[in-house]
Amino acid sequence: MVPDRPGLLVHNAAEIATLAGGVRRGSTQDDVALLASGESGGGGPDDPALAAYEGRIVAVGRLEDVEAQLAEMGISESAITRLDARHGTVTPGLIDPHTHLLFAGTRHAEVELRQRGHSYLEILAAGGGILQTVRMTRAATDDELLDHGRGWLREMLSHGVTTIEAKSGYGLDTATELRLLALAGRLGVEGPVEIVPTFLGAHAVAPEFRDKPNAAEAHLDYVINEQLPQVVEQGIAKSCDVFCERGVFEASLARRLLMAARDAGLNVRLHADQIQPSDGAELASELGALSADHLGSVTDEGINWLAASASGPHPTVATLLPIASFYLAEKHDAPARRLIEAGVPVAVGTDFNPGTSPAPNAQLAMAFAVHRLKMSAAESLSAMTINAAAALGIAASHGSLEVGKHADLAIWTVDSHALLPYWLGANLVRSVVKRGRVVYAADDTPG
Ligand code: NIG
Ligand code: FE
Repeated sequence: MVPDRPGLLVHNAAEIATLAGGVRRGSTQDDVALLASGESGGGGPDDPALAAYEGRIVAVGRLEDVEAQLAEMGISESAITRLDARHGTVTPGLIDPHTHLLFAGTRHAEVELRQRGHSYLEILAAGGGILQTVRMTRAATDDELLDHGRGWLREMLSHGVTTIEAKSGYGLDTATELRLLALAGRLGVEGPVEIVPTFLGAHAVAPEFRDKPNAAEAHLDYVINEQLPQVVEQGIAKSCDVFCERGVFEASLARRLLMAARDAGLNVRLHADQIQPSDGAELASELGALSADHLGSVTDEGINWLAASASGPHPTVATLLPIASFYLAEKHDAPARRLIEAGVPVAVGTDFNPGTSPAPNAQLAMAFAVHRLKMSAAESLSAMTINAAAALGIAASHGSLEVGKHADLAIWTVDSHALLPYWLGANLVRSVVKRGRVVYAADDTPG
C-alpha cells in the first residue's frame, strides 16, 4: 500500500508526455511536449520526473531540478511518496469527454436487428433504442444505478482515465433527469474519477409526447420550460447537450434549447451530424459551443464553420467518437484529418453508452482514432488529454502536466506514448494518480 503523504515524486520514467502549452490545433495536435530520458538511460539525474504537493503539480523536468525544487520549497523526504515509473511512459490522466455513464440494462438484441437491416434511427422511431434504455432506467433504483455506474467507473479508471463527462438523457422526464444528474454528482464526489455532468433532457422525444402533434417540439418546450430551470437550480450540470439529428431534434429546435441553456448560464455542446448531415457543426460554431460531437456526416460547410470558430478565442472542439461509428457500422467515419488540417482542435471520447458504444476503454478509443480516423499516436493522445479538457471547459486546471495544474496522471508499461494505440485491446496501465494520490495500481501487465 502506498502511504498517504502530501508529496509525490514520480521518477525513472522513460518519457513524460506533458502536453504543456495549451489546446492543440493543426500541426500542434501532433506535439505532446515530450520530456525524454537522458543519454545515460534509466535512473540518471537527467531523467524526466514530476513532483506534486497537496494534489497539484509543483515541478516537472529533469530529476535533479525537480528534487532541487522540492528542497527549495522546504518539502522534506518524509513528506514525499516516491513512485517508480519503472521506465514506463507518463502522461496526463486520460479525460473521456463524452460518456452516457448512467443507465440500466443492455441492448444487445439491437445488434442483430441492425445486422438484419434495421437502422439505428428506425429502431428509435419504433420506440426501441434510447427509449428502451429510458424504460429500464426509469424503473431502476438509485442504488442500482450507483452500483452500475461505480462498476464502469472502476473499469474506466483501470484504463487510465481520471476525469469523465457524464450525461443524463435516459430519464427524459424531469424527475429521472434530475435524479441522474444528482447521482452523477454523487459519484464524482465519491471519486476517484472526477465527473463533469451534462444535462441531456433532449436525447429523444419522451414516450409521453410521442403521440402528440409536433411531438419533438412539444418535448422540447417541456425541456426548456420545465426541466431547464430545475436543472439550473439543482446546480450540478455544467452543460446542456441535445441530440441534434434530422428526424430527432432538428437544428432549429436544438438552437432554441441551447440558446435558453446559454442564457441560463450553462455551457452548450451537441450530438452533431452523427448519422446524417443536420447542420450540427454550424450550430455548434454559431453558438460558441464547447464541443460538437460525433461529426460522422459533417459537411464541408460545417467544417468551414468549425475552422472559423477555431481561429477565434473560444474554439468549438470537434469531439470524435470512432467506436460508435464502428459499432453502428456507419459508412463513413468523422473526417479527422480534414478537421485537423482546417485547424479545428480535435478531442476523442468513448461515447460509453448501451446502444452505440458499450465500450468503457479509453485506450481503445485512442487506438480507433489512429487506426480508423488516421490520426497519429501523438494526435490521439492530445485528443484524450488537453483537447478533451478543452471540450469540457477545464483546460486551465486539467489535461496537461504543468506546474499549478491538478496532479492527475497515468503511468504506462510501455516506454513510448507511440505504443499506446499500437497494442490493440491490451490494458497498458501500470498505475493511475488522481490529485497526487495513487488510486490504481495494476499487477504488472505487458509492455
Ligand atoms: O452518442 N445518438 C445519440 N446518443 C448516443 C447513443 C445513445 C443510445 O443509443 O442509447 C450516441 O451515440
Ligand atoms: Fe453520445
